[in-house]
Formats: sequence, structure tokens, C-alpha cells
Amino acid sequence: MSRRPVSSTRRLVDTGSFPFTGALQSKSRSSPLLSVGLVLVGAFLLIGYAFSGSGIFGGDKAAVSRIEGDFSCTSEIQRAIPILKKAYGDSMHKVLHVGPDTCSVVSTLLKEEETEAWGVEPYDIEDADARCKSLVHKGIVRVADIKFPLPYRAKSFPLVIVSDALDYLSPKYLNKTLPDLARVASDGVLIFAGYPGQQRAKVAELSKFGRPAKMRSSSWWIRYFVQTSLEENEPAMKKFEQAASKKSYKPNCQVFHLKPLR
Ligand SMILES: *[C@@H]1O[C@H](CO)[C@@H](O)[C@H](O)[C@H]1NC(C)=O
Repeated sequence: MSRRPVSSTRRLVDTGSFPFTGALQSKSRSSPLLSVGLVLVGAFLLIGYAFSGSGIFGGDKAAVSRIEGDFSCTSEIQRAIPILKKAYGDSMHKVLHVGPDTCSVVSTLLKEEETEAWGVEPYDIEDADARCKSLVHKGIVRVADIKFPLPYRAKSFPLVIVSDALDYLSPKYLNKTLPDLARVASDGVLIFAGYPGQQRAKVAELSKFGRPAKMRSSSWWIRYFVQTSLEENEPAMKKFEQAASKKSYKPNCQVFHLKPLR
């Protein structure tokens, strides 16, 4: 399930086994209690690991993948779809998603009834699968640098959802990109952003994203929206929170609701 916890546990057990065998050989007569204690500690470590691996203690998968560094708000959108339908109703019938791995969001949305979905993939998709390449081929997903104006007319989509993309933009580019997202939306813009402290791209992926993600606090974002005259969409926010609490849904990302440009 997860590589890093496995290897770190193994390392713990490995290094622990040297003093452990040493104690058995040289000190077994002088301190049997110590050996018994070490055996018990070892047993507890193994049992604890086995249980966390089998999911009895490790129920929170998101927490695990957050430690792994491959947690993404794009996958969070898929979890949130039932809540989004409640909060946005008819606006969900035509959605533009902007962000890495947009093919996965678009494919999921297209499976919903009476839903048109479009995507903008900000990074290259050389390693994309055939399904994704076909979405690109059909023009449903476009590969476009979001530092430049989006290739759509004003108010083309009732709802625009962006995830894991704004975290990589400096304020200079945010100043262009965020109003442009609000330009192509007619009912609302929904932002999924990481929480401060969440690790996002692995070092090997940094060349793809250009710069490391900067996870901003919610007060930073709200101050930013006020500064750039983007208004929060209070009715959508309330409906989202109501639907979320009804279904005991807790997003693993910060979710912001903005109004489109007037
Ligand atoms: C972004 O826009 C805001 C509001 O217009 C402005 O105060 C700020 O200086 C801009 N930031 C950058 C880095 O251009």
C-alpha cells in the first residue's frame, strides 16, 4: 500500500536486531529481563505495524498519502462531487476543470448524468494514458499554460473548478490567472488549494511544475481575494457547508467559492 512506511519500519527492525542478538549472546545470563524486554518491544513493533498495515489503525488513507507526498486536491474533487452537486445544482451541468491530471476529473464528471465536462491540463502529458490522449484529441481536454489567458470566451462555463494549480503560481501570475478563471465562469469559481504543510510534488516532478508548490493559509487567500476584488460566493459556500456536514464530509483541501467577474 505505501512504500515509505514499510521501508522505515524495516530499517527500525533491522538496526534493532543487532544489539538485540548481541544481548542474547553475551548478556543472556546476566540480564534475561533485558532480552525479554527487547523481545516484547520487537513484538509490539511488529504487531503495531501489521495492524496499521491492515487498516485497523490506519483508517485515514488521506493522512497516509499526505505523508507520502502524493496527496492531491484533484483526487479530492472526485470525493466531493456529491457535495458539489448539492451546492451548485444546475451549474454542475457544464464544468471546466483546470489542473494537473484533469483527464481523471473530466472522465469522472462525464460519467455523471447530463454533465458536460472540459479540462485544461497545465503541464505536459507525455506520460498520459490512451483515454487521456483521446480526450485531448477530441478537444475536450486542452494542454495550455495557465499563465496565459485561457482559450475560452467569457462566461463559457457555469462552473470552473481549479485544483493543485494555483499553489504553483507566484502572486504575479495569480493576478492574471485567477481573474481569467473568473472571466470564463458564469455562475462560480471553485478553488481547491492545499493546506500549509501539505507536501505536494516530489522533487523529481519539480521540473514539470517549474517551482515548488506554496501552500498558503486560508487567511492569505481571503486577503488575496479582497485585494484583487474577487468576491466570495456566500450562497454557494453556505450550501456546500450544509451538504458537507449532512454527509460528514471533511475536505482534505481548502475549498474557496468565488463569484464570476461581473
Ligand atoms: C496583484 O494585484 C494586486 C491588486 O491589484 C496588487 O496589489 C499586487 O501588487 C499585485 N501583485 C503582483 C505581484 O503583481
